[in-house]
Amino acid sequence: MMTKLLPVTAESLNEAAKLLRNGEVVAFPTETVYGLGASCFSIEGIKKIYQAKGRPSDNPLIVHVAPGFDLTQIALTVPDTARRLMDAFWPGPLTIILPKNEQIPDEVTGGLKTVAIREPSHPAAMALIKTAGIPVVAPSANTSGRPSPTTASHVYEDMAGKIPLILDGGSCEVGLESTIIDLSEDVPTVLRPGGITLEMLRTVLPETIIDPAVKATKEVAMDVVPKAPGMKYRHYAPKGELILTDHGPEAVAEWIREDLEKDPSKVIGVIATEEFGKALLAQGIRVPFISLGPKKDLTVAAHRLFEALREADERGWARFYGEAFAAEGIGEAIMNRFLKASSEKRL
Ligand code: TXA
Ligand code: MG
Repeated sequence: MMTKLLPVTAESLNEAAKLLRNGEVVAFPTETVYGLGASCFSIEGIKKIYQAKGRPSDNPLIVHVAPGFDLTQIALTVPDTARRLMDAFWPGPLTIILPKNEQIPDEVTGGLKTVAIREPSHPAAMALIKTAGIPVVAPSANTSGRPSPTTASHVYEDMAGKIPLILDGGSCEVGLESTIIDLSEDVPTVLRPGGITLEMLRTVLPETIIDPAVKATKEVAMDVVPKAPGMKYRHYAPKGELILTDHGPEAVAEWIREDLEKDPSKVIGVIATEEFGKALLAQGIRVPFISLGPKKDLTVAAHRLFEALREADERGWARFYGEAFAAEGIGEAIMNRFLKASSEKRL
C-alpha cells in the first residue's frame, strides 16, 4: 500500500475523514503523540489498527471525541466527578475511564465493561473528528513496542506501506501520552501519568490517587498488575542497553570510563539535561549526547524523550545512560516511560 504524507489542510482533512468513514485507518497529530485513527463504529477499521501496530487485541483503545459531543452515546453514566474534570482539562491530554454504553463495540474495549474517552486539543485532531462526524478510536501511531511517535516522520518510519494516509501537523507539544484517570470505581485513580499531573487533578478531585503499579518509585512494583491493560507491557524498548540512574554526572563519568576501558570500540551515549551534559564535559567525558533541555523546565524533557529514544537507536548506541528525575509533577510521567524503556536501574 502507498502511504501518503500530507500537511494538514482543509483538503487533506476531508480526505482523511472520508477514509475514516470508509473503514480505513489514518494517522493524525494530537497534542500528546500521533494517533492511529479509525471510526469508533467500524469493526473493519479497528481490526486494521491492531494489524498495523502489531498490537494484542485485548489491549483497549481510547475513543477521541470533539467538543460538544454527547457522551451518553458512549458512556453508561457520566458522573459529576467526570464533568468537573472535563470542565477543567478538556480539550487536553486527559483520558477518562467510565462504564461503557452497549453501543461501543467490544473490539474497542478489549471486552472490558469500561471505555476510555478523551477530547484532544490539537486543532487538526479536533477538525478531523468533527469532519468525520464520528468519535475516532486511536492508539499511539507506533509499532507495538516502539516509542510513541511525536512527529509525522516517526509515524512514517513505523507505518509506511501499512496505512493509506498520515496527516503531518508538526511535532507534538506534550510529547508523552495522555494521563489516564479511572472514574468507574469509587476512588479516582490515575492508571497512566501524563501531561495533566496528579497535582493538577487534585486541585479538582483531592481524593485522586495513583495506581501503585504505575507509580514511578525506586522499587517499581513489578509484581502488581496495572489496571490499564497496555501498562503491563514493556514499552519503548530501545535496541541498546539503557541504564537509568540518579547517581549524578560524577558516577556516570566513572562508569563510562570503565565501559570504555573494557571495550573501547563500544558506542556509549548519554540522554540527560543540559546541566548534566556540561558536568560530564567538565569531567573530561566526551561521548555522544542527546539533550533533554534545561533541568528547571522538565516539560522540554517530556517533549523530547521519545524522540531521544528513537535517535539513540538510529545512532547505533549499544549502551547509554539516562538521567533519572524526581517523580513529581511532569517528572512522574517522564520517569514512568523512562523506567519502562530502561534495561537496568541504578537508583
Ligand atoms: O495521548 C494518548 O492517549 C494517545 C493519543 C493518540 O490520544 N493515545 C494512546 O493510546 O496513548 P494507546 O492505545 O497507545 O494507549 C491507551 C492506553 C492503553 O494502555 C490501554 O490499555 C489503556 O489506555 N486503556 C484503554 N481503554 C481502557 C479501559 N477501558 N480501561 C483501562 N485502560 C484502558
Ligand atoms: Mg501506545
